[in-house]
Amino acid sequence: MPPSPLTIAKLTKPTSGTIAGWVANVRSSGALIFLQVRDGTGVIQAVVAKDAVDAKTFAAAKDATLESSVRITGEVKNEPRSPSGWEMKVVQFELVQKAAEYPIGKKEHGPDFLLDQRHLWLRSEKQSAILRLRDEVVWQLRSWLHAHDFVLTDSPILTPTAAEGTTTLFKTDYFGEPAFLAQTGQLYLEATAMALGRVYDFGPTFRAEKSKTRKHLVEFWMMDAEAAFVDHVGNLEIQEHLIADVIAETVKARLRELEILGRDVSTLAKITAPFPRLTYDEAVARLIKQGSKIKLGDDFGAPEEELISQDYDQPVFIEFFPTTIKAFYMQPHPDHPERVLCADLIAPEGFGEIIGGSQRIDDYELLKKRLREWKLKESDYAWYLDLRKYGSVPHSGFGIGLERLVRWIGGIEHIREAIPFPRLLNRLRP
Ligand code: 4AD
Ligand code: MG
Repeated sequence: MPPSPLTIAKLTKPTSGTIAGWVANVRSSGALIFLQVRDGTGVIQAVVAKDAVDAKTFAAAKDATLESSVRITGEVKNEPRSPSGWEMKVVQFELVQKAAEYPIGKKEHGPDFLLDQRHLWLRSEKQSAILRLRDEVVWQLRSWLHAHDFVLTDSPILTPTAAEGTTTLFKTDYFGEPAFLAQTGQLYLEATAMALGRVYDFGPTFRAEKSKTRKHLVEFWMMDAEAAFVDHVGNLEIQEHLIADVIAETVKARLRELEILGRDVSTLAKITAPFPRLTYDEAVARLIKQGSKIKLGDDFGAPEEELISQDYDQPVFIEFFPTTIKAFYMQPHPDHPERVLCADLIAPEGFGEIIGGSQRIDDYELLKKRLREWKLKESDYAWYLDLRKYGSVPHSGFGIGLERLVRWIGGIEHIREAIPFPRLLNRLRP
């Protein structure tokens, strides 16, 4: 391992050494040059004094432009006037590469410009904080699942069939045969759940979403979990504990990032299991009372989700949607055959649906009937039907949209900032 330079975020006491990073700001006043140097973990103020360095070093520091890469060496001490609380008195200054004129300035830029510059925009304090928050959420989700005996079994991305309806499928050519990018790993997880009991996957999923909203991506990351011998009630209990614990741990670990994002963490501190439950029919009745034009049988859009979440400071489960507006694999409600044992988890503060989940049909004949009704080819799903032939059991699962969860925890206006390189209806680049 090469000797590592000092890490700004890990500074605890005065020291000396080298910091490698990028110039986040620079100003000079005669014999003094003040730089803010960012190393990826934090920002430190660096002072180059004409009388403390040789002429070449001073010239190099003077030459540094915004986002130039540098190596600075010197003494680090506490400095209350520095934004980070630390300052380096520079004795050696290496300009690794002098940056060309940086396109992102201090002035306000429009979203299209910033998205075009996404490869550079990620360096900003706010965007870096979001990436760290996302990393933490992934870490906490994985830790929770691992601690609760869920085994990671990743699902394929190239698949021969649809799982979540055929309208948002991305078609590609698989050596002359059509293939589709995965919309969810769920069907494959149902197979691994019969091998291992409790399983999850975590990977990119794809939906050719034709809508432009603040919560839809074309490529997003999903964590699907599936558990054998767990019914609808147990499924919701797993979800509420997972979400409450992940939020508590994430807030604890990433307070600084949440502060950078201006997030009001008091709303997150209230999140505790159990979460309230509301049936689809109750939700529709309530929405109508509140003036919504929704009818029984309609699906919820963003306005409906927002109206519902206004009444709660907890996430709320909407249970038992109509069979016709949900996927083919959901188990019917025993008392209401036209409703299914499913639930969407709606986040508070208008952030909308975070999780979709359900108990799955475990009866062979019923699943075959549903495939026919949904006009899906039985032969395409032969392996999936097999799972109902060899030791079928009641089982349930759910899928969390990572960027939706990050958006909510971070209080981020638009989902496109919750993923490093967003894929949107009109955006494939950079
Ligand atoms: O509700 P969905 O469609 O459920 C499923 O795909 C199930 N097969 C999951 C399962 O039971 N294993 O998607 C799950 C979650 C949604 O609640 C949402 O958070 C996210 O995935 N999601 C999206 N996130 C960003 N952009 C999109 N276009 C999304 N579509 C779904
Ligand atoms: Mg859904």
